[in-house]
Amino acid sequence: MKLTFSRSVIAGSAFFAALVFAGDQTDDYLTTLTELGYPAPADNQLVHIPPTLKDLEQSSMHPELKRVIRRGHDLFTDTQQLRGENVFNNMNCSSCHLGDGRMPFSAPVWPAAVTLPNYRGKNDHVNSLEERIAGCFTYSMNGKPPDYGSDNMLALAAYHHWLARGVTMYPEQPIYGRGFPAPERPEEVSYQRGEQLYKEKCAICHGDNGEGLRIRDTTVFPAPWGNNSYNWGAGMVRVSSAAGFVKNNMPLGQPLSLTDQEAWDVAHFMNSQERPQDPRYTGDVAETLEKYGPTFHKHSLYGQKRESDGKVLGDHSNTGNKDFLKPDTVRPRTFE
Ligand code: HEC
Ligand code: HEC
Repeated sequence: MKLTFSRSVIAGSAFFAALVFAGDQTDDYLTTLTELGYPAPADNQLVHIPPTLKDLEQSSMHPELKRVIRRGHDLFTDTQQLRGENVFNNMNCSSCHLGDGRMPFSAPVWPAAVTLPNYRGKNDHVNSLEERIAGCFTYSMNGKPPDYGSDNMLALAAYHHWLARGVTMYPEQPIYGRGFPAPERPEEVSYQRGEQLYKEKCAICHGDNGEGLRIRDTTVFPAPWGNNSYNWGAGMVRVSSAAGFVKNNMPLGQPLSLTDQEAWDVAHFMNSQERPQDPRYTGDVAETLEKYGPTFHKHSLYGQKRESDGKVLGDHSNTGNKDFLKPDTVRPRTFE
């Protein structure tokens, strides 16, 4: 058992190492990606290889700025250091944004730095980069964002900006490898097949009950459901996003090894399990679904009867390991 873990993890890190290119190596980088099975960029797409920490050391930027960017990187990859304050589950930002937030097809985070401020349908107003980061704290980390303008928020934002080095602000072209592009939805999706596949290909790392693995204070394998996972308001609860994430990134070190059908089945199974309440909960799951269904939950299983046993998903007031539902930062803006 132990051996299998370390072998798989090594396979995973070798895979990321293959994608740590810098500078002018765009062609090599794209060749590596296409050899792994990812699509080549379309003619009109913007391709950007984010700089590495080694590039940071070699750059002529002010040493104090370098220090803050390194701090942002450290918070991004070890977000558990903010546990109990801003993070109330087992996630690091890099649990979903693989390769330190640099990997294409793993929602690389730099696009946010060049496309925001922008309107966001999820909260129906114009968001800043800090507010976008705050969103992932609120939902994906089941937490409470660091204060706007605080040292930690600035460090994280600086890390995002640094990754976007050299990209034009508000680019007109679509961005290659952005988000978790979902494979086409198959005609039917099966809970039972998803459960079976999870047992065969995922449980060895993520646990039979989706609990993941934590050793001392370190998350070795994050929890895909339960109290230590992302909450019902997180982007990953959209079955399409989860299918896109899984298809392109899991099992770790074997991206693109599942068929589209398998990725959808396992995403459907995973997102049919319980997790902490959506921070936008009104006190009633049907009402919350009605309110956020059109803009968000139409892609999730929230408020629906589970295929296997008819249980209504999200019908509870469990907030996981935190003792509040909604952080104060989640508020509307009007510009009036
Ligand atoms: C549970 C998984 C998960 C975790 C953990 C997570 N995120 Fe995300 N993040 C997502 C999803 C899903 C999206 C939306 C991707 C898409 O649009 O397809 C996203 C999008 C983003 C974006 C926007 C990227 C773009 O293309 O504009 C930023 C920035 C971001 N996350 C930052 C963070 C930060 C910072 C943290 C840690 C505090 C974090 N995320 C933790 C799942 C996660
Ligand atoms: C070899 C171990 C391993 C296997 C097998 C594996 N994963 Fe993962 N998975 C990880 C690790 C490690 C991360 C976090 C990435 C990081 O920290 O670098 C992760 C992250 C995730 C995440 C995002 C964070 C979370 O827990 O919600 C999901 C969802 C996920 N995996 C689903 C799956 C599914 C579905 C399968 C089976 C098809 C699978 N994984 C197989 C190791 C594994």
